[in-house]
Amino acid sequence: MRKQNRLPYDKERLPRHIAIIMDGNGRWAKKRHLPRQAGHKAGISALRRTIETIVELGIPVLTVYAFSTENWKRPAEEVNHLMNLLRENLHSELSDLHENNIKLNILGDLRELPAGLREELFEACQTTAGNTGLILNIALNYGGRSEIVRAAKALAQQVKDGEFSIDEINESTFGANLDTKGLPDPDLLIRTAGEMRISNFLLWQIAYTEIWVTDVLWPDFNGEVIFQAIDDYLKRNRKFGAAI
Ligand code: IPE
Ligand code: IPE
Ligand code: MG
Repeated sequence: MRKQNRLPYDKERLPRHIAIIMDGNGRWAKKRHLPRQAGHKAGISALRRTIETIVELGIPVLTVYAFSTENWKRPAEEVNHLMNLLRENLHSELSDLHENNIKLNILGDLRELPAGLREELFEACQTTAGNTGLILNIALNYGGRSEIVRAAKALAQQVKDGEFSIDEINESTFGANLDTKGLPDPDLLIRTAGEMRISNFLLWQIAYTEIWVTDVLWPDFNGEVIFQAIDDYLKRNRKFGAAI
């Protein structure tokens, strides 16, 4: 996968967390006169390749956007197909993920997912909970706004129950009530298929994330595109508001 003649990256400078908006499955299928389903299926293969490359690079956290809170607006047939595809692949890939020491984590509101998928997700997270390799976050029924509202509600409940005082609410305690609690913010956000928008992904966490957009459609995504993104990321001067 990785070109042999490529210089190894300095691990210290690599992103600790990469987030990806996996977009363009529909357009990929359309270009081939195939149903959208074919695009989603090819998208799963792209995800498998991506995970392999990220593991190879030793990047600690990968977050992928698989289904947004707004994606329920799609025709029921497509939604059902996506849910089934995720469930089937989770089932078939679980032993592989586990063998590769990958810890699976789900971001999003699981309560609204079909029961079968929810159980599969629960089992996969339980099985891999003790793994110490890549942390793989799959954002499913995820929306940044919904996540922030859920965190606000959780904090309000803790204040109401007398476990927490309003004065203790700050960026750190708020962050600890988000789905990404305990994880570093993404250093690099990749979006495929060219759209220059965030589409409700990780709104809180991307405050200082470097954004990289490619026209490559998600099913065509591969290790070489990740290297392009990382090469570009490594050239950037991250300032975090300071006068560097
Ligand atoms: C991304 O591909 C997959 C999901 C959002 C589930 P799309 O299905 O959005 O593909 P386009 O944007 O129509 O090409
Ligand atoms: C973002 O893609 C959501 C996922 C990749 C899961 P969309 O295709 O839903 O985004 P919009 O509608 O183009 O903003
Ligand atoms: Mg799309």
